[in-house]
Amino acid sequence: MHGAQPETWWRDAVVYEVYLRSFADSDGDGIGDLGGLRRRLPYLVDLGVDALWITPWYPSPMADGGYDVADYCDIDSRFGTLADADALLAEAHGLGLRVITDLVANHTSDRHPWFLAALAAGPGSPERSRYFFRDGRAGGSEPPNDWISAFGGPAWTRVRDPDGSPGQWYLHLFAPEQPDLDWDHPGVRDDFDAILRFWFDRGIDGIRVDAAPAMAKVTGLPDAGHGPGALFESRTWVGNPHWDVDGVHDILRRWRRIGDSYEGGRLFVTEAVVNGPERLSRYVRPDEMHTSFNFDYLASPWDAGHLRAVIDASLAALEPVGAPATWVLSSHDETRHVTRFGRARSAAATMGFDTGAPAADLGVGLRRARAAALLTLALPGSAYVYQGEELGLPEVEDLPEEVLQDPTWERSGHTSRGRDGCRVPLPWSGGRPPFGFTDDGVEPWLPQPADWAGSTVAAQLADPTSTLSLYRTALHLRRRIPGVRSGAFSWWRTADDVVAFDRGPAFRCVVNLSDEPLDLRGAGRHLLSSAPCADLLPPDTAVWLEPGAS
Ligand code: GLC
Repeated sequence: MHGAQPETWWRDAVVYEVYLRSFADSDGDGIGDLGGLRRRLPYLVDLGVDALWITPWYPSPMADGGYDVADYCDIDSRFGTLADADALLAEAHGLGLRVITDLVANHTSDRHPWFLAALAAGPGSPERSRYFFRDGRAGGSEPPNDWISAFGGPAWTRVRDPDGSPGQWYLHLFAPEQPDLDWDHPGVRDDFDAILRFWFDRGIDGIRVDAAPAMAKVTGLPDAGHGPGALFESRTWVGNPHWDVDGVHDILRRWRRIGDSYEGGRLFVTEAVVNGPERLSRYVRPDEMHTSFNFDYLASPWDAGHLRAVIDASLAALEPVGAPATWVLSSHDETRHVTRFGRARSAAATMGFDTGAPAADLGVGLRRARAAALLTLALPGSAYVYQGEELGLPEVEDLPEEVLQDPTWERSGHTSRGRDGCRVPLPWSGGRPPFGFTDDGVEPWLPQPADWAGSTVAAQLADPTSTLSLYRTALHLRRRIPGVRSGAFSWWRTADDVVAFDRGPAFRCVVNLSDEPLDLRGAGRHLLSSAPCADLLPPDTAVWLEPGAS
C-alpha cells in the first residue's frame, strides 16, 4: 500500500460507460475512437460524472465488438494508439475524471497468438493446455459435454487438424471466436498479472472484470444438466460447473493484491450475473473486488414492490461484507430501458435474447426512464450511466438484418436480433445522420435513425426540460447535497405502488409507480422532478425533496 490510505472514491461514484466504437469518431471511418472520446471529455465533465468505463479497446477481430482480444497490451488501430490512450488518461485526470478499462480474461480471441499456437501444436501439447481442448464423445463426433454458449448453441467447436481431418473440440462459453482460457494453468495467471501491471503502470484507475463467474470450471468438466434449447440464464443456476465456481475467487484475490500494491489502490468492478445478492456479495468480500454490477436491479420490471425488494435484498447482502451497492439501468448488453419500460413486460432479457418482445410505448417508456434516473441516482452507493441513456435514447429495433453484427443474431438462428440496437452511434448535433458522430457524408458502423435530430446533445443542451438537462441537474445536485451521497438510507411512508426513501434528515426521493397522482403535501421542498409536479406527484414520476423545508 506504500503507506497511503486506500482511496474510496468508488464508493459513491457515478461511472459513465463509454461504448467506444459508438461514442464519437475523430478520423472519419465511421467508428468511434479515442480521439473522439478525448474531444468530448468536456461534455462528460459538464454532465457531472466521476469516472469513465471504456469498453475493450485492444486489437481485436471484432467478432464480439472487441470482447475478443488478440493483444492485451495494445490499442486497436481503429481506436487509436497507446500514445492516444496515454493522452486520454492524462487529459481525463487533468479534468478530474477517473478511467476504468475493461479486461476480458475468461477468453481470448481465436486470433490471439496463444490460440494460434495451440491450434498449430496439436493434441496434448503445452500450448493447448492454456485452453480447454478435449476429445469429443461418441468417437469424437459429439461435444465433450453439454455446456452451452451465452450466444446460443453448444459451448464447443471442433477443430481441424493440420492434415484436414476433424480433430479435438475447444470450449467457448461465448462465441466460437472466443476460446476460454484454462485459469488452472500457471502461465495464464502469470501473464494476466503482467497485463494488469501494464495498465496500472500507465495510470489506469480501475478494471472492469468481464464475465468474472466464467473464469473457473469444475475439474473434469462434468455435464451441467442443460436441457435442449436451454438459454444462458445464469441468474437461475445453482451448482453449475462452468459458472460461479469457487475457484473464481482465488483469481480475484490475486488481482486485488496487485491493485492494492499501487499507491491509493486501484478499483475493480466485476460483471457477475449470478443467482441472487448473496452469491453476488461473495465477489465483493474485503479481499476481493470493490464493487460489482447489480444485475438484479437492472433486470427489475417497472414495479414498485419488485424494486423495493431488490433494493432491500441488495443492501442487506452487501452490509456484512462492507461493500457499496451499484445501481445500473442499461449497458451495451441490454435493451435500452426507455424501450423496456415502455413494454407491458418491462424486465430485462438475457444477453440480447429479447425474442418476441411486445411493442413499446416510447412515451411511457421515456417518462419512466426519467423517473428511474432520479431513483437510481438517489440510492446509496455507486451508479452507472450507459452512454445515450442521458439522451433518453430508445433501443433501435428496426436495424436492417444485413447490418446486424452481434453474434447472438447468427447463433440464435436469426430468432433473436441481439444487442446491436442499444449500440447505435450517439447523435451529437445537426438535423440528419451522422448527427456529428462522424464526418458528414460518412456512414456510421451502425445506421442511426433519421428522426434523432431532437435527441442530439446540442438540441438537448438548449432545452431545460430535456432528458440531458435532467441528468445534468441531478448529477450536479448529487454532488452538492451531501445526503444524496452519504445520508443513511431508510424507507419513507411506503405505499404499495410507491418507492420512497430518505437519505438522512435532509434528502428524500419519492417515485410514483401507480396509476394515480400521489399527494406530496408536507413531504418537503421540491429540488428536482422528472416531470412537472406541484402538490401532486403524477404517475411514473420521481421527485427529490428536502424534508422539513417548504
Ligand atoms: C460481457 C460483455 C459482453 C460480451 C461478453 C463476452 O458480458 O459485457 O458484451 O459479449 O462479456 O466477453
